[in-house]
Amino acid sequence: MLKAMSEISETRQRLISAATKITGTKGILAHPSETAGYFMDWRRRYKGEALAVVLPTSTEQVSELVRLCRSLGIAVVPQAGNTGMTGGAVPISDRPCVILNVSKLNRIREIDTLNNSVIVEAGCILATLRETSERAGKLFPMLLGSVGSCQVGGLVSTNAGGINVLRYGNMRDLVLGLEVVLPDGQIWNGLKVLRKDNSGYDLKQLFIGAEGTLGIVTAAALKLFPQPTNSGTAMVSVPSIEAAVDLLRLFSDGAGGKVEAFEIMSKGQLENVLAHHQESSPMPLCSPWYVLTELADSSTSWDPNELFEQILEVALERELIHDAVIASDSKKAERLWRLRHTISEANMRKGFSVANDTSVPISKISVFIEQVDERLKHEFKAAEVYYAGHVGDGNIHVIIVFDRAFYDTDEKRETAAARANFIVHEASVDLDGSISAEHGIGLMHIAELEHFKSAVDLRMMAQIKRAFDPDNLMNPGKVLGAAALMRFEA
Ligand code: FAD
Ligand code: MLT
Ligand code: ZN
Repeated sequence: MLKAMSEISETRQRLISAATKITGTKGILAHPSETAGYFMDWRRRYKGEALAVVLPTSTEQVSELVRLCRSLGIAVVPQAGNTGMTGGAVPISDRPCVILNVSKLNRIREIDTLNNSVIVEAGCILATLRETSERAGKLFPMLLGSVGSCQVGGLVSTNAGGINVLRYGNMRDLVLGLEVVLPDGQIWNGLKVLRKDNSGYDLKQLFIGAEGTLGIVTAAALKLFPQPTNSGTAMVSVPSIEAAVDLLRLFSDGAGGKVEAFEIMSKGQLENVLAHHQESSPMPLCSPWYVLTELADSSTSWDPNELFEQILEVALERELIHDAVIASDSKKAERLWRLRHTISEANMRKGFSVANDTSVPISKISVFIEQVDERLKHEFKAAEVYYAGHVGDGNIHVIIVFDRAFYDTDEKRETAAARANFIVHEASVDLDGSISAEHGIGLMHIAELEHFKSAVDLRMMAQIKRAFDPDNLMNPGKVLGAAALMRFEA
């Protein structure tokens, strides 16, 4: 034991002194007062230990650091904004590892407004990318509650979703090319900005959603879109989830591709967000469900409020809605969207919150919710069950907020969380759904991935992992655990 400890401390010293030569002293954090925030996830559910945090400023530095770690047998945990929901960027504690945080690799290298594309480094914060694109007259459409902190490398590596997937797709649909440092330190330059390229396997797809297990994304070529010049937001109360799905169809058919977002919250969820902000509700809280929707377009020859009124009139006749509020200006629209974007924060404050991230075919959302609601409420007495998410993607987050006083130990909370996750995942998979729509597997769902994925799926995944990273140095213990890698050996 003592020998092992002294070996780790010797490896750490060698790492720090060699890494300092690569990044300079500013690129390495080793003191607990500097590293603590990097070792824990946003929800404060997972915590690990690493020998140090390295902060490279160039792709070449990333490559040299990866080679260094490899030579010392140290695992590498890629990290960007550390807003991930499944513990994927948190170090594991069972082997020496280093966090390679890309935040300082954050330049926007090139914007091509004719080609509608941008090349941006992995540490660029989403809000910065959106603002820079806007100044160039373009839209980068990815938008989620963590917009001010999450970074391109994390968005690519989780294949993030958010509120605009309905119109523009998830991160996979927005990536044209990637630059990646492979687990052996080689730099792969796949930064093409082409819309068409069938010259062999589409290798970038392997890294999108790989959660840092196959390499480190250092830059991405991304699609841009025309900046909407005209937009409107409405909040609508609806009697049921079926009505919300029918309303979405009415909007999609009636608004000619202008539906930018269509998000839902259950009454309890909205009440909790309002309580968090100490705000009064924009409308009476008499319905079980609330939809927030945005219409937007770059053409000026239409009036969003007129279009809202037309569609909502039909919806009222068909009894799809109870009530509606149309934001009269952009400040009021922002206020409505703030309610949506702060649900995770509000839920975390309320109790020990476990947000599921399943998707089912849109036609099965209502039966899915009916089934999980009954089972969860039957099983957990001291917990609130909320629903929020992306109707157009079939991705409704089932959020269970456990009362911290009742579930008063980590063990009780984790046991309850595991059981709740299983109930939700089982219902989703039974309805041809997925256990993760946008947050990924990380640490959180490793056991369930093994349970719910077929052996053929798992074997192919293990083979890909081994082909890229035979020594399992790149974010080990994430997505595929050691047991799965061994079980599906060759
Ligand atoms: P991190 O958390 O740092 O990392 C995430 C994963 O990617 C980890 O596995 C990490 O190892 C890996 N990784 C990071 N950088 C790299 C890299 N350069 N190369 C290789 N691997 C890397 N997610 C959604 O999809 N939709 C939402 O609507 C949404 N809303 C959110 C709201 C809030 C308030 C919060 C806190 C989070 C939300 N998220 C949402 C989750 C999170 O913001 C996304 O998963 C985001 O993509 C993570 O980006 P990040 O930069 O924080 O990545
Ligand atoms: C969201 O849609 O707000 C997120 O994915 C975050 C969550 O599930 O908590
Ligand atoms: Zn979401």
